[in-house]
Amino acid sequence: MPVFITLEGTEGVGKSTAMAYMQDYLAHHQIPFITTREPGGTPLAEKIRTLLLTKDVEPMSETTELLLMFAARAQHLAQVIKPALAAGKWVLCDRFTDATYAYQGGGRGLPMADIRQLEELVQGTLRPSLTLWLDAPVELGLSRAAARQQLDRFEQEKAVFFDRVRAVYQQRAEAESQRYRRIDASLALEEVQAQIKAVLGRFVAVRTL
Ligand code: TMP
Repeated sequence: MPVFITLEGTEGVGKSTAMAYMQDYLAHHQIPFITTREPGGTPLAEKIRTLLLTKDVEPMSETTELLLMFAARAQHLAQVIKPALAAGKWVLCDRFTDATYAYQGGGRGLPMADIRQLEELVQGTLRPSLTLWLDAPVELGLSRAAARQQLDRFEQEKAVFFDRVRAVYQQRAEAESQRYRRIDASLALEEVQAQIKAVLGRFVAVRTL
């Protein structure tokens, strides 16, 4: 059974540190896996990422943003995710379509039904097997993200935008409680890692029986 694990959360919740921890965990358990990210993950999709994250003189329309997210995803699925799953590898992906529901649907206010249609067009029936949602109060994450040198096009958004993003993650976590695991990312690093370890431990135990 192919295993597709995604990691989600608003800005500054510690996704990179969590990704590194998850990689170590899977490697330690001798699980063949790849790690990747969205938007991006292939040379072409990384070019689309640059378009999406860079502020230009011309404002990007919300529909352009939505379609570019799914264009990058289509390329990423074809070149990286599907081949890896077909080869029996686990895929660990930093963000996926839940981020589109949260950012373009929640943050930008685009219709969820449009996102659902694009999800079906681009992914067919493929969905993550497990989603770890790193959750922390928006202000906490933004203060961490602000310490970075340059803010990208999304990081420049205001707290109310991320409140809407977080609310959609919350709704989706409740609606899809089988797949979603909420990790309290406001705690100290060791406690965050202990939660991730507990979730992955149970998941790995079932999948590698
Ligand atoms: P990252 O900084 O976590 O790598 O993600 C880049 C940004 O892209 C982040 O602010 C969230 C945003 N994003 C969306 O708005 N929609 C999506 O579908 C994805 C995958 C990311």
